[in-house]
Amino acid sequence: MGIINKCLFPVAGYGTRFLPVTKSIPKEMLPILTKPLIQYGVEEAMGAGMAGMVMVTSKYKQAIENHFKVHIDIEASIKGTAKESLLDEVNYASEQCDFSYIEQEKMLGLGHAIYTGKPLIGNEPFAVILPDDLCANDGDSVLAQMVKLYQQHPDCCIVAIEEVLMTEVDKYGVIDGGLLKNSTNAYRVNSMVEKPSPEDSPTNLVIIGRYILTPEIFDVLESTEADENGEIQITNALMTLAKQGKVIAYKFQGKRFDCGSVKGFVVATNHFAKIEGLI
Ligand code: UTP
Repeated sequence: MGIINKCLFPVAGYGTRFLPVTKSIPKEMLPILTKPLIQYGVEEAMGAGMAGMVMVTSKYKQAIENHFKVHIDIEASIKGTAKESLLDEVNYASEQCDFSYIEQEKMLGLGHAIYTGKPLIGNEPFAVILPDDLCANDGDSVLAQMVKLYQQHPDCCIVAIEEVLMTEVDKYGVIDGGLLKNSTNAYRVNSMVEKPSPEDSPTNLVIIGRYILTPEIFDVLESTEADENGEIQITNALMTLAKQGKVIAYKFQGKRFDCGSVKGFVVATNHFAKIEGLI
């Protein structure tokens, strides 16, 4: 058992930026080459030592659950052929990990999605991956880097951050804070703001879709009020913990692709296609 055993995947959203395809295909099942985004996320969590995959999903997203189940007919049809190894990676994930699913009945925001996973997480620290933020790098994955930092700060939540252009901050949660002693990439967060205008933003350090959360977050989420759109934001819940000095922001090593946007998805596809020598 690793220090963090479970990873929560909030995958209930409608993915409206990818309509019409997301009318019937979950955004998380869109492939970069032949592998769906959700599988990249699961592999990253496995690489960080986790085996409990908790999916906060919706009734429209059965395809995600099917992806991690054995498909007896396809298996039989490719058995003994050159294609037999094509399912190895996903079968390996299914064998090694325990997948559990819980439905978020109403889309009330990322904070609400995470809170929905509470019965399957229990009273232990856990990771969160937003699979539409696809991270790629040599060496330790972003989540594995964060687990190492968490080991040094077990009372804190860790959020992954990236520097973006000031004109981009209004798409993200933004942090403000000071570097930890002797660190060049980890900040003690003292304030956070969700989607500020560039003029009002404290920094250009934005939170991307990787978190390590202590179970304390569930109590905080319970009393976090919805924003003007009726959504419960994880950034606002984390702000409560930041005020107590319990949030660290980590500038990770590696690349992140915003596969929740069409442009980012195309950039990611090109990146992986080049690596495979396809273009
Ligand atoms: P996004 O806002 O990026 O995803 O939420 P979306 O709503 O699916 O996409 P668009 O904006 O309509 O194109 C970030 C992540 O949080 C999940 C989404 O599934 C996505 O992985 N999420 C968001 C939930 O699971 N539930 C929610 O209520 C909101």
